[in-house]
Amino acid sequence: MESRVPSPAMRVVVGVTGASGAPYAYALLRNLRAEVELVVSRDAEAVIRAETDRGPADLAALAARTYANEDLAAPPASGSHPFDAMVIVPCSGTTVAKIAAGIADNLITRAAAVALKERRTLILVPRETPLSPILLENLAKLARAGATVLPAMPGFYHRPRNVQDLVDFVVARILDQLGQPHDLVPRWEGIAGGTVTASAPRGSRGRSSRSPGRTPSGGGSSRRGRRSRS
Ligand SMILES: Cc1cc2nc3c(=O)[nH]c(=O)nc-3n(C[C@H](O)[C@H](O)[C@H](O)COP(=O)(O)O)c2cc1C
Repeated sequence: MESRVPSPAMRVVVGVTGASGAPYAYALLRNLRAEVELVVSRDAEAVIRAETDRGPADLAALAARTYANEDLAAPPASGSHPFDAMVIVPCSGTTVAKIAAGIADNLITRAAAVALKERRTLILVPRETPLSPILLENLAKLARAGATVLPAMPGFYHRPRNVQDLVDFVVARILDQLGQPHDLVPRWEGIAGGTVTASAPRGSRGRSSRSPGRTPSGGGSSRRGRRSRS
């Protein structure tokens, strides 16, 4: 059986909060090749049940370890616990506000504070619309503090055919930020003669007709030389 954990394993803390977008969290956990430490907020549990046919246990089954959000003594609460990155997906406006204000009253907000102070990768995936000035200012503050603000804001240039394609678009952008290879969505190759072209992912679901003869760029893109549009 294929291992979900590469060697040496990247350790990623995944926080799931009570914003709409539980399918993003599930899809990320399915595609992340890392030692995942999962924390699900109480409000997220309700949203997961409301938005999917799954429950928190289904997400936990995809993680190496799960901690209660109330457990401020759990390892990710300490800077001495070596995790490489944290992703909060979806990230509620409440959690954004707490992190921006330096409030670390649960394990998700505390681990985010740790990521910021230790200068580790912190990816926030907010989902709200419209965006109030308060949320915008909080997100700008966090971006200046070193967080990556990656809104759940799918594009359409990969010609999504269903909801999962839209979910995969956002998850692909998260994996790109983590430097993880993936083939979730085709990569942008420009517009030739007015026709949008994109490389098909490996094992694509019939998308090759849109990219005859093109070599899938696969994934593993990094901050350097990334070819996909954002
Ligand atoms: C069904 C449902 C959908 C919600 N959607 C959002 C949302 O899209 N964005 C958001 O910021 N808050 C949303 N909320 C509100 C948050 O759950 C609420 O602010 C909560 O305090 C977040 O707490 P947490 O960040 O600790 O999970 C939603 C709540 C429910 C019940």
